[in-house]
Amino acid sequence: MNEKLTKSQHTITLKTFFGFEETLADELHELGYAECTILNRAVQIKGTWKDVYFLNLHSRCAISVLIEISKFMIKDEKDIYKKAKEIQWTELFDIKKSFAVKGAIFSNLFSNTKYPLLLVKDAITDSFREKYEERPNVEISRPEVLIDLYVKENQATISINTSGAPLFQREYRKETGLAPMNEVVAACLIRMSGWDRKTTFLDPFSGSGTLVAEAALLASGIPSNIERQFYAFKNLLNYDSELWDSIYDAVNYKIRELPGKIIGSDINDTMVLKARRNIRNFAFSRAVEINGMNFNEVKSNDEPVFIITNPPYGERMGDRINELYEAIGNWLKHSMTNSVCWIISSNDDALKSIGLKTSVRQKVFNGDLECSFRKFEIYAGSKKHVEPTE
Ligand SMILES: C[S@@+](CC[C@H](N)C(=O)[O-])C[C@H]1O[C@@H](n2cnc3c(N)ncnc32)[C@H](O)[C@@H]1O
Repeated sequence: MNEKLTKSQHTITLKTFFGFEETLADELHELGYAECTILNRAVQIKGTWKDVYFLNLHSRCAISVLIEISKFMIKDEKDIYKKAKEIQWTELFDIKKSFAVKGAIFSNLFSNTKYPLLLVKDAITDSFREKYEERPNVEISRPEVLIDLYVKENQATISINTSGAPLFQREYRKETGLAPMNEVVAACLIRMSGWDRKTTFLDPFSGSGTLVAEAALLASGIPSNIERQFYAFKNLLNYDSELWDSIYDAVNYKIRELPGKIIGSDINDTMVLKARRNIRNFAFSRAVEINGMNFNEVKSNDEPVFIITNPPYGERMGDRINELYEAIGNWLKHSMTNSVCWIISSNDDALKSIGLKTSVRQKVFNGDLECSFRKFEIYAGSKKHVEPTE
């Protein structure tokens, strides 16, 4: 095992979606990282390459794990090339590996935000050419090595994106419907909701089962990325397979029982089949129920139930969408007494039709859609109609 990978400290940045920064920091605390700096759509910690391997496997709320290799001030574009050229690229990865440079530029120094990325790409290819008279291939869609450039005004940071393809590509979800939820969004919503991982979990609009699968993975303690094979760090020259194997093999993935019931249901039988297929590779698959039924046929029998759900937003439903949300409100009041229900929707108007008081609301995004994630608490006394809050 390479000692350097387990000893030298680096700045590690975990990226996430808008609105989930605190949620990711909360996950990092649970994973043992007490000191986190919250940034815009990211959280930063100090750690080693061992932490990088560990977090790629264990974080459910991060989209990618970046390790910083150079940070510098710039006056103009020439500084980007010059500083990028100082990095020992030929010691980082082999000429046979494909690579790409991606990132985000927030600086008045550049009118074309793609240009700084090209400068780093040129610095990399020139470094290889000078040493081997050849250069590695650039591959935009699925590079084996991914370099990240972040420029904020006159400060630039070059990092290695050690995940490569985003971590929501978990590789367990083989089948989806028309509007599948992103797996990282699902994991973040579940953590944000404060579900205790034991109370019966229900998604009555479960579609391809993303919330159900992420809830079961969280409750079992199995990393959401257990099925994923691709990580860009495996393509670097410093890759230590023994270190990775020790981290991967420490996971107990043979969990068959879950601490509480996890239930999904959907009116569309094709979606029910897809959801079942998506979870059947996990040892706990028999402990998860996926039923074909209308949401209003699901009953709690006064048992506490924790609902997180993503009903249709109504793009193709016209006025009937408000009726659907009104029916959800009635169902909660009459059949789900003693429950907590979190609903994510982009349709504010429809959410008002639920007719129950919202106790918490968060602005989040599901893909490109701005959504509200709202908590409703239903007790026996909630049966009477309450005027919805704005
Ligand atoms: C936005 S999708 C949910 C997507 C899901 N979160 C996923 O990741 O695949 C909404 C789902 O609600 C289901 N649905 C629509 N009306 C329903 C009803 N009355 N009862 C139960 N399910 C319904 C649809 O079949 C669809 O799968």
